[in-house]
Amino acid sequence: MTKTVVGFSKLTKEEKINWLAKTYLSDSKSAITTLKSYWNDDKQLQQLHDEFIENTISNFYLPYAVAPNFIIDGKPYVIPMAVEESSVVAAASLVAKFWSERGGFKTQVISTTKTGQVHFKYEGSFDELQHYFNSIKSRLYQATESITKNMRKRGGGILDIELKNKTHKLENYYQLHVSFETKDSMGANFINSCLEAIAKSFRNEEIEIIMSILSNYIPECLVRAEVSCKINELGEDAELFAKKFYQAVQIAQVERYRAVTHNKGIMNGIDAVVIATGNDFRAVGAGAHAYAAKDGQYKGLSNCSIDDGVFKFWIEIPLAIGTVGGLTKLHPLAKLSLEILQNPTAKELMQIIAVAGLAQNFAALKALTTTGIQHGHMKMHLQNMLNQLGATQQEKKYLINHFKDKDISYNTATEALEKLRTTKMLE
Ligand code: MEV
Repeated sequence: MTKTVVGFSKLTKEEKINWLAKTYLSDSKSAITTLKSYWNDDKQLQQLHDEFIENTISNFYLPYAVAPNFIIDGKPYVIPMAVEESSVVAAASLVAKFWSERGGFKTQVISTTKTGQVHFKYEGSFDELQHYFNSIKSRLYQATESITKNMRKRGGGILDIELKNKTHKLENYYQLHVSFETKDSMGANFINSCLEAIAKSFRNEEIEIIMSILSNYIPECLVRAEVSCKINELGEDAELFAKKFYQAVQIAQVERYRAVTHNKGIMNGIDAVVIATGNDFRAVGAGAHAYAAKDGQYKGLSNCSIDDGVFKFWIEIPLAIGTVGGLTKLHPLAKLSLEILQNPTAKELMQIIAVAGLAQNFAALKALTTTGIQHGHMKMHLQNMLNQLGATQQEKKYLINHFKDKDISYNTATEALEKLRTTKMLE
């Protein structure tokens, strides 16, 4: 049987599912049942989701949770998070409470400039190119006027267009390097439309446009979040804790293997809020990791200092997100997330997301430098393991209590469940 298909996107949803099940899935009946069990009964809502992308055949759920008790710049927040990893929301909630009792999180948006580039080839002299660019620059702005009209009304638009000579990197390679202010929108479509209009107006017989696209490297769209307190306010064994915590942050500054994991922990918090608010987590991830390598070596994104008895922990991270446009108002849960966050501006959302990242990093480093990560992790994951082992509600309740003060692993959970069943303790 042929396993390829022509005109798949034209098939109805039922036809797509049937073809997929028949061609690729051994138990097609149960596959179809699984796919359909995730359809929403509300037909209009389902259609909305179907139309987000092509070839939708079902929905893929992620848990949607909230972490309360964040104090950010003196204002209380409940932060919505969409994430599958068991410990992330629990960690966020604990850290939120911890810092709410120590002055909360302080934040600052450092800059909000985004970038896009028209990449092109040109074989003539740079002086002539520069001359041509200078003569046509105002026409490049004019070419985008209808696209930038609304954005300009909101205080945004094109900030600058520069010609860059990149021939030292690649033969005959030049760029128009364009900077943008996109206010409350993430601005991807806006930037790309502007760039394509600029490229069209810029090209001539000697200029070969290669491509026009925004950059997800946004070192000038930057936000800082910080917590600080006197060392003795840090709790048990405060001095030792602060020292080990500081050391852990320094290790991520100098050791790439550790830095990547350190930053992954930060992204646990960041992505969860980015997804819950309907933003583009791939763009945010790409930008964050590139920023972590901005000095030529990949480093941890957070920093720590201990000066005059004061412990300070902060992050500076680039975030290209929006609170209008994209899915932010279209996906009902994204819209609700923004409402939970008191309908923030993009700048405020940058501040909230940076806090979620810093909080997650604090939780991870606190656990790593004290109890170890597995203690809390496995406690949260126990429920998943018991579900996988087919434990009943009653068995789960018993075993979660049983493991309160014991080491948890897949083996110990399996053995404990088996023992529970053979001894018929719950019957
Ligand atoms: C796990 O998802 C994240 C951590 O590995 C982060 C870290 O090690 O800092 C716990």
